[in-house]
Amino acid sequence: MIIVIDGPAGSGKSTTAKKLAESLGINFLDSGALYRAVTLAWLNSGKPDTDKFINNLTDLSIDAGEVDGKFTVWLNGKNVSEEIRTSRVADSVSEIASIPEVRNFVNKIMHKVVEKDNYIADGRDLGTAVFKDADLKFFMDATMEERARRRHNELLEKGTDITYDEVYQNLLKRDHTDSNRKADPLRKADDAIKIDTTGKTFDEQVSLMASIIKDRLKI
Ligand code: CDP
Repeated sequence: MIIVIDGPAGSGKSTTAKKLAESLGINFLDSGALYRAVTLAWLNSGKPDTDKFINNLTDLSIDAGEVDGKFTVWLNGKNVSEEIRTSRVADSVSEIASIPEVRNFVNKIMHKVVEKDNYIADGRDLGTAVFKDADLKFFMDATMEERARRRHNELLEKGTDITYDEVYQNLLKRDHTDSNRKADPLRKADDAIKIDTTGKTFDEQVSLMASIIKDRLKI
């Protein structure tokens, strides 16, 4: 079984998907983390020209799984789960994720991961491109201001020195790149259920989505 949640940055996809996975007793897959790992590889290799990077993509070893209940990503054997959250990665990820060969590479990893078990996954194009036949699809959204405020608080809690305006600009730029790229842009699948989280508490959005899942999938 696969449940997918798409939506823009800061709409609450990952935290909600994690919580739902926990309460349903299924696994969580963070597709953005895989794009972030590819981006980190690109940055670490000294930002080579994209053709060269693409030609050597299959040399990258990216693995994902759960460690102590936390979604964990390894790049060439190293746990990079923290490093992929830095603004250095956030600033370049949408550019790297817009390359069709990169999308192909990440999609293959995802299909391999989910074939073994039941998953709830979050991303941008899961309902429209990667898992078109998903058992259930959601599209989460919130106003730009609310999304930036949430992401800013999240980063401050982690001790990151960043202003609200910097976060706002990063989300704005990523939304624009993600929604306008040629390869599988961010958009709501026709059969996805839209959840607007503006003004909703975390618990409210989780219980709303949990009840839809129980109702639709009878679990
Ligand atoms: O957590 P946040 O919403 O900030 O972003 P993320 O889920 O970690 O994704 C980071 C970036 O990866 C996005 O801005 C997209 O450019 C890209 N991405 C994508 O293109 N397709 C996906 N299925 C997931 C992420």
